[in-house]
Amino acid sequence: MSESPQHHGQWSSRIAFIIAASGSAIGLGNIWKFPYLLGENGGGAFVLVYIACVIGIGLPIMMAETMIGRRGQRSPVNTMAALAKEANAPAFWQIAGWLGIVAGFLILSYYSVIAGWSMAYLFKMVGGFMDKVGPEEAQQIFLDLKAAPDVQLVWHSLFMALTTAILMKGLTEGIERVTRLMIPALFLMLLALDVYAATTPGFWEGMTFLFKPDFSKITPDSVLIAMGQAFFSLGLGMGSIMIYGAYLPKDVSIGRSSVIISIADSAVALMAGIAIFPVVFSNHLPPSMGPGLIFESLPLAFSHMPLGSVFGSVFFLLVFFAAITSAIALIEPAIAHLTENFAFTRQKASLIACGACWFLGLGTLWSFYDGGEWQWHGKTFFELIDFVTADVMLPLGGILIAAFGGWVIKEKVSKEELDLGEYHRYWQIGTRFIAPVAVALILLKALGLF
Ligand code: TRP
Repeated sequence: MSESPQHHGQWSSRIAFIIAASGSAIGLGNIWKFPYLLGENGGGAFVLVYIACVIGIGLPIMMAETMIGRRGQRSPVNTMAALAKEANAPAFWQIAGWLGIVAGFLILSYYSVIAGWSMAYLFKMVGGFMDKVGPEEAQQIFLDLKAAPDVQLVWHSLFMALTTAILMKGLTEGIERVTRLMIPALFLMLLALDVYAATTPGFWEGMTFLFKPDFSKITPDSVLIAMGQAFFSLGLGMGSIMIYGAYLPKDVSIGRSSVIISIADSAVALMAGIAIFPVVFSNHLPPSMGPGLIFESLPLAFSHMPLGSVFGSVFFLLVFFAAITSAIALIEPAIAHLTENFAFTRQKASLIACGACWFLGLGTLWSFYDGGEWQWHGKTFFELIDFVTADVMLPLGGILIAAFGGWVIKEKVSKEELDLGEYHRYWQIGTRFIAPVAVALILLKALGLF
């Protein structure tokens, strides 16, 4: 804690914060991951479990995490240390901050590779390389991309370079500026795609798949995955929203902002599902095709639409924007930490953190390339990082943050910060009991410990 808390600066307004935090939340998680997880885990039932996790676990934790950030005004590690000291709690709470910095770093390493795919597709769309493709060709284009480490390397590197450039510009000129433009545009485009989906023959099949729950499909595993996804999609449990909270002016209501951000995030996930599944069913593709889902199904749809390549270009442009507004949030905790603890400039810290992340991303790149030949306990390098972060580190960070917010931070303080009025009691029940217990049970189950 060598620096004064205020040295990072603040958001220029409440809206700027809501948009930036929505930018963190809305990302590949909504548009790429949610649809394929849903496809693999039985559709409607998964959506219900997911929404229950957002409301019962995600929302209270988001409020707790933002509140902790604003109170601490430093990097997640330094914030947890400072607040623990203030409350006479053990210094061990810092662990939550460390988990966050490391998890964000790990996630961004593969996130950037996938975001690179969206750039590659954008390029193909703009260049008209995806006009009039059939299901097999669409699949082949995706397989070819995964088998071309050099092409992926170019896009991965470009994505990381752009992320670094935005971060080097700082809060107002970098993060705010980019998110203010991209997030509203993303909403509009998705809306247009939903309207298009409604005209396809597979629309009702898609809607049934999305919204009609088949409870026999719910397994302990799928509950864990839904919860992990709620954390991932809201961007919780690892300091993204904590560091964004650190830049939040005191007079903004955290309660209300968190509700808005959660609604925006869930809406985008559902809108992405509505855009994608009708197209999947219209083209008789299996909904359970995993991480390739949007890269194989959407190009098909676009290639048959009037003005398809225009639409397709804009879509992949927006996937890219969604990704980059999340990428900056994933690595911001590490950057804040480097500037605080090593007195690096923001520029230098951005270069170091992003450079290291780029390097680690090579592992993911290679795991797609070798067709998953290298595995550890049945998981490729990419799947391993995904599992360790989304299914272990984020829930663990979430438990600590919820418990810290609910139990360690004084009630008087949380009441004042959250501004929830009579709902404060529910928040307390959520952070003190529901979130830690539910998350712990699911986590233990996932790890096979009971
Ligand atoms: N929420 C983003 C997405 O859905 C990714 C992200 C940003 C994230 N910050 C995070 C995920 C913090 C986990 C934790 O794509």
